[in-house]
Amino acid sequence: MSRQYYIAGNWKMHKTRAEAAGLAQALVSQLQDGKHKYLVAPSFTALETVGAVVKGSNILLGAQDVAAEEQGAHTGEVSVLQLKDVGVQVVILGHSERRHTYKEDDALINKKVKLALKHGLDVILCVGETLEEREAGQAEVVCESQTIWGLSGVSAADLARVTIAYEPVWAIGTGKTATPEDADAIHAYIRKVIGRLYGEDAAKNICIQYGGSVKPDNAAQLMAKENIDGALVGGASLKAETFVPIAKFA
Ligand code: 13P
Repeated sequence: MSRQYYIAGNWKMHKTRAEAAGLAQALVSQLQDGKHKYLVAPSFTALETVGAVVKGSNILLGAQDVAAEEQGAHTGEVSVLQLKDVGVQVVILGHSERRHTYKEDDALINKKVKLALKHGLDVILCVGETLEEREAGQAEVVCESQTIWGLSGVSAADLARVTIAYEPVWAIGTGKTATPEDADAIHAYIRKVIGRLYGEDAAKNICIQYGGSVKPDNAAQLMAKENIDGALVGGASLKAETFVPIAKFA
């Protein structure tokens, strides 16, 4: 398999700068012998602080969102140029909390994806169905449609800088994890969609992370699945003692 495991921590709306720096320092030292690809995504306010800590390490700096416009009168938003200015390399887009709590639709998310890629940032595009959609047998079509929409207008060359994160909404922060088999089935389906859009090589190479109650005790079983290439971790990424064992799953 040519794909590399990619373990990312989404810190969501947690941590002051001092707390964020402490966690970042612990991760830099404890992951320096880690064999996979790593990312942390702190709040905007801690980006510069954490960026200074992870600089030169094997941990990438990510943001949790970006504005859909380059600049202008957009009170409360943070632009792609501002993210680059503080050293951000990757941006998480389409997270279910953005989609559902803040009502971001596929068109807006697609605009952000294209803008981030245009400015040289890598993208983690999140997709995933709600419990209601899963129970109605729509998990695959929802993920398919979010993938197609999210990537609309993205070239094959730019796709190389995109990671997909499958995060079933019902598994986020609930302690309910998709079984490795259920997650793998959706990952395989998303990979097929990528193949249809971009060809077999792209499908083989795209990294698809799983997110939703990933913990030290379930990471290895998830990662053992053929189509699961990494994790996007929320709650368990807030402490080194829970993130490091996930990042170094055996
Ligand atoms: P939890 O790991 O807390 O379920 O969160 C997952 C997530 O939303 C990561 O983006």
